[in-house]
Amino acid sequence: MPADEEREHMPGASTPSSYSSTNPTKAGDAVLVLGVADGKVRGLDSAKAATTALNDAAKAIEFTGKAGATVRIPSPKGVAAGSVLLVGLGSFDPAKSDDDTADRETLRRAAGSALRALSGASSIALALPVASAEDVEAVTVGAGLGAYRFLTYRTGDDDTVPGPVTVLGPKGKAFSRAHAAGVVIAEATNRARDLVNTPPLDLYPESFAQTVKDQAKSRKVKVSVLGEKELAAGGYGGLIGVGQGSTRGPRLVKVEYSPKGARRHLSFVGKGITFDSGGLSLKPAASMEDMKSDMAGAAAVVEAVFAIADLGLPVKATAWLPLAENMPGSSAQRPSDVLTMRSGKTVEVTNTDAEGRLVLADALTDADAENPDLLIDVATLTGAQIVALGNRTSGVMGDEAVREKVSEQAKIAGEDIWPMPIPEEMLAGFDSTAADLKNSGPRPGGMLAAAAFLREFVGDDTAWAHIDIAGPSFNTGSAFGYTPVAATGAAVRTLVQLARSAD
Ligand code: BES
Ligand code: MN
Ligand code: ZN
Repeated sequence: MPADEEREHMPGASTPSSYSSTNPTKAGDAVLVLGVADGKVRGLDSAKAATTALNDAAKAIEFTGKAGATVRIPSPKGVAAGSVLLVGLGSFDPAKSDDDTADRETLRRAAGSALRALSGASSIALALPVASAEDVEAVTVGAGLGAYRFLTYRTGDDDTVPGPVTVLGPKGKAFSRAHAAGVVIAEATNRARDLVNTPPLDLYPESFAQTVKDQAKSRKVKVSVLGEKELAAGGYGGLIGVGQGSTRGPRLVKVEYSPKGARRHLSFVGKGITFDSGGLSLKPAASMEDMKSDMAGAAAVVEAVFAIADLGLPVKATAWLPLAENMPGSSAQRPSDVLTMRSGKTVEVTNTDAEGRLVLADALTDADAENPDLLIDVATLTGAQIVALGNRTSGVMGDEAVREKVSEQAKIAGEDIWPMPIPEEMLAGFDSTAADLKNSGPRPGGMLAAAAFLREFVGDDTAWAHIDIAGPSFNTGSAFGYTPVAATGAAVRTLVQLARSAD
């Protein structure tokens, strides 16, 4: 077991990335990454002989360029590089395609697959087919995300971070700016991954709040933290109720980025259950295994606000993180207890495992009181999300215009977030015999029902949507494209994109 100070990882420490318009045939000792679409090597336009040699090599080893496939081969005559990594682009053809959004996701994934395959490479030059500044950003994001490794708790050296990356593309300010933005977005997503991957022994409400303060130091943001006493005094019944079964008490963290002249205010609320045992309504062992990830919403909202600040976007952005550990200690809340929430509403806790909505409700009340122009909550809220949409598609529910906007901006950012309804009969499922509401409703449409519950804590005039990231936030399958196993950093890129598109 490493000593405490050795354990402390550097959040955000990542593979350095730079931008250059050098000719890819002059990559020096670096591994040169080239794309292959429809069996043909792209990106070495000026070097015809080398391209022919590479095409022949690819053919000889039957490398056709299936999306995500990679192979490393010696560099041909006429190309100065340590070696060449071919990465599949599928049937990518930017000249023929009229879908820029899909093409950019192809570039992100290819760059991600390449970097996943290059553990330990001492330096890497990426020469993927980029035509626009947006393409350069996509390659940079994909590479930054693919370079991610969670090594904090590893003692061996069987996996290592890839060396410095150079993204190659056309000369010009717009391109190097796009690269810089891509670096900010990838680093924010990777910090969110680090938070989610950190075991709950080390990441609990107090330490999470401290990490947020530490990360805020280098940025123009304001952080405030409410502790247990303040939460009790303020009537945050949901946070107190969920947190009271743990020896490690709850916190409410608020992060504000408020640049001069901002005309729009975006407010994000993220579910921050640092471990969800279910409480007295205890989860079975198999369902508890990945519940360190139940704070992925909180990780996403705080890192998105940091990224918005790092990009210097001209919007006000606030992140609210209701943090608690849901444990079955002897002081835990009991099924049938009634909580008085921050809003004044009462809730009968019929299932202590429906805890996310309780902590979110309190934070939504405070966020809503500031009258933001847009209020979005992000949460690993229901197993029903996974049943409905699977492991790679999040659900978004709420005001129609807001959920359409979230879904559309998500696509631009390279995430799948699908609009889902809140059918009118859902709310009646929360009728309680003892309080205004109970916290667990009927099972059918569980994701939609949870949204109906949350809506009770948001004003009618507030532009609101709720994103359920239960499946997409934590990859229990194998890695693909720029997505590793375990924490994915889901929703960070979408929230940043929403701030970019705020008008
Ligand atoms: N954190 C879970 C939801 C979850 C499940 C996230 C699987 C990621 C993967 C949440 O707190 C929960 O336990 N939800 C219950 C709600 C039910 C008791 C109404 C669920 O989905 O079963
Ligand atoms: Mn739960
Ligand atoms: Zn939970």
